[in-house]
Amino acid sequence: MAAFDSSRLNGWQQLAIKYFFVAIVLFGAQVLFGMLAGLQYVKPDLLQQAVPFSITRIVHINAMVVWLLYGFLGSVYWLLEDESGVPVVGLKLGNLAFYLLTAAVVVVVVVYLFIQIGPGNDLTRWLITEGREYIEAPRWADIGIVVCALIFYYNVAATFMKGRFSGISGVLTLDLIALAGLYLAGMFYQVNISHDQYWWWWVIHLWVEATWEVLVGCILAWGLMTILGTRREIVTTWLYVEVVLMLGSGILGLGHHYFWIGMPDYWLKIGGFFSALEPIPLVAMVVHSVYDSGEHRLRNINHPAFAWFIAHTMGNFFGAGVWGFMQTLPQINLYTHGTQWTASHGHVAFWGAYVTIVVPMVYLALQKGRGNVWMGSGLVGAWRWKWALTLQALGTVGMAMCLLIAGYVQSFTERAVGGSTWEAYFHAQTQPWFTQAMHWRMVFGVIFSLGFLLLAWDLVAIGVGERRPAEALPPREEAAAAA
Ligand code: HEM
Ligand code: HEM
Ligand SMILES: [Fe+2]
Repeated sequence: MAAFDSSRLNGWQQLAIKYFFVAIVLFGAQVLFGMLAGLQYVKPDLLQQAVPFSITRIVHINAMVVWLLYGFLGSVYWLLEDESGVPVVGLKLGNLAFYLLTAAVVVVVVVYLFIQIGPGNDLTRWLITEGREYIEAPRWADIGIVVCALIFYYNVAATFMKGRFSGISGVLTLDLIALAGLYLAGMFYQVNISHDQYWWWWVIHLWVEATWEVLVGCILAWGLMTILGTRREIVTTWLYVEVVLMLGSGILGLGHHYFWIGMPDYWLKIGGFFSALEPIPLVAMVVHSVYDSGEHRLRNINHPAFAWFIAHTMGNFFGAGVWGFMQTLPQINLYTHGTQWTASHGHVAFWGAYVTIVVPMVYLALQKGRGNVWMGSGLVGAWRWKWALTLQALGTVGMAMCLLIAGYVQSFTERAVGGSTWEAYFHAQTQPWFTQAMHWRMVFGVIFSLGFLLLAWDLVAIGVGERRPAEALPPREEAAAAA
């Protein structure tokens, strides 16, 4: 009855669905390669000839960065027309960019899998890998990514120029300049490793702790208006507050990555102080969402999306705010730097802040594509989305706890007692608490994987066969004003 029918969607919404589809496929690849990398910790000779740890790890984290970016692009395309009030400008170019980008991603991954070792010179930097963690893509692909980002930017900026220009769209268009611009900082090869790391962190830290956070703030603002009917002034005011706090603390917070890479030691003070302030906007976000849901008595048009948005505010606060804060003061970071403690934070933060913002946007898109059907209480098969979310949350928290224990052993045995020697580094990794934590991580990895499979199934099945229309919210103030 309500199978997915793309004729219900305009060209932009169809493009968003394409981005979402590739995003979820790559999410699957991320989980698969994460499981492989985790198994290699437990059984180090596993598949070392076919796909060594260096490759499983690259594919795991690159798939993550790329699928989240696809999810963000899809989300922005999805909300663009609704937010601007006019048809989006430049559909053909937008579609072209999607196919170019997807072809580039496939080629880059296939090359990673087949060319695993070799020299590092100009040729390999251009064609195979630039070797910078998270953004290993070779130079040709970098240039392709920049071209696609420019096309995306044109679509967004031109549409908002033509249509309504709101607080959300203003923040979004400015933020996208920073998001695309910072990518350039990671494209230049520096002979001096300190210089190289200096610029690399501009992409990595300033992306995830500044521009991505602002971007998800915009998406969340639109999402809350759409599913809860929150008033525009409320979400926009909070968005401004969060942006000011986020940039105020996050830009100089960059210094928490400059502690030990050969930068001047004033970064210890600057980085420690400003990054310690970074959790404040994340607390503001929790207050914001609790306030909104209270005001609306949790009445909303899409239960799975709403539940994932709640998971986002909690996940962002704990994963980025609390887990990040734990190791951000130089006095502590001296011991925890680069241990499994870091990986623990990386997992909760990325899942908690970003996976949880893309998934609800996919649910909103599917609701429309399946004929604007009911996704409230009494939905057939609602157990699937509930368990998908529960298992993923449990898997993430469980993995993070295991990694935290392993990181604690490393900080203590390798750093505090062993004095950071080469020997102590390996000794720490033979401690029973460390090795057992690595096994338990796999148990929670399986739980997470089940959560992923259930999510994939639910995205295919939710709302199919549903005949009730979606619950209607009171019209938005701008619609009411125009009437
Ligand atoms: C959503 C936001 C965030 C995400 C996705 C995130 C993710 C990550 C990841 C993946 C790393 C590891 C980088 C590497 O490979 O070396 C990292 C490192 C770090 N993060 Fe975050 N982070 C976020 C926010 C924060 C916040 C708000 C703080 C502080 C309050 C923070 C503090 C740190 C510190 C101190 C490190 C360095 C750890 C080390 O020395 O090894 N992060 N983060
Ligand atoms: C399904 C279960 C998963 C397993 C078994 C797993 C396993 C792993 C392993 C073994 C590494 C390499 C750690 C190292 O270099 O020591 C890693 C890195 C990483 N994974 Fe996962 N992962 C899983 C899911 C996820 C998910 C869902 C996310 C986020 C959405 C994620 C984000 C990351 C990040 C950001 C890193 C880099 C951390 C750092 O450099 O500190 N992983 N993962
Ligand atoms: Fe950072």
